[in-house]
Amino acid sequence: RRLLVLHGPNLNLLGTREPEVYGRVTLSEIDRALVARAQEAGFELATFQSNHEGQLVDRVQAARAEAVEFVVINPAAYTHTSVALRDALAGVGIPFVEIHLSNVHRREPFRHHSYFSDQAEGVICGLGWKGYLYALEFALERLASQGA
Ligand code: DQA
Repeated sequence: RRLLVLHGPNLNLLGTREPEVYGRVTLSEIDRALVARAQEAGFELATFQSNHEGQLVDRVQAARAEAVEFVVINPAAYTHTSVALRDALAGVGIPFVEIHLSNVHRREPFRHHSYFSDQAEGVICGLGWKGYLYALEFALERLASQGA
């Protein structure tokens, strides 16, 4: 059984990018922790980061063909701009949790609106990189309760 974690633009810079906002943990450290936790629970987890909107759309579309059952996504700046990525998730109908490292509601007003939140199972923001782990815990519990 499969899960997918998606990271939007500039998240490849985690660790060095505005560390006071986003922390010092790198993307590969986050991905490793997620893969390990999923494996422990008997699930297969793939991760994907892109700085390109169309690549993220393509990855979401591919997820349906791969029978991915749950998505954890940090759309990053596309949170506030991308109807295309929103439509891709709606199009494949795979449930997802939206996550942000920073508390977007404590930041600039343009970060307060998300094209994803009203379609998400839930939203986690402001809890740093561990927000990804909390989102994964939710997904694992949800899938376990649904059976194989
Ligand atoms: C972010 C918040 C977004 O507003 C920003 O554009 C990002 C990262 C976060 O994880 O806090 O790139 O999604």
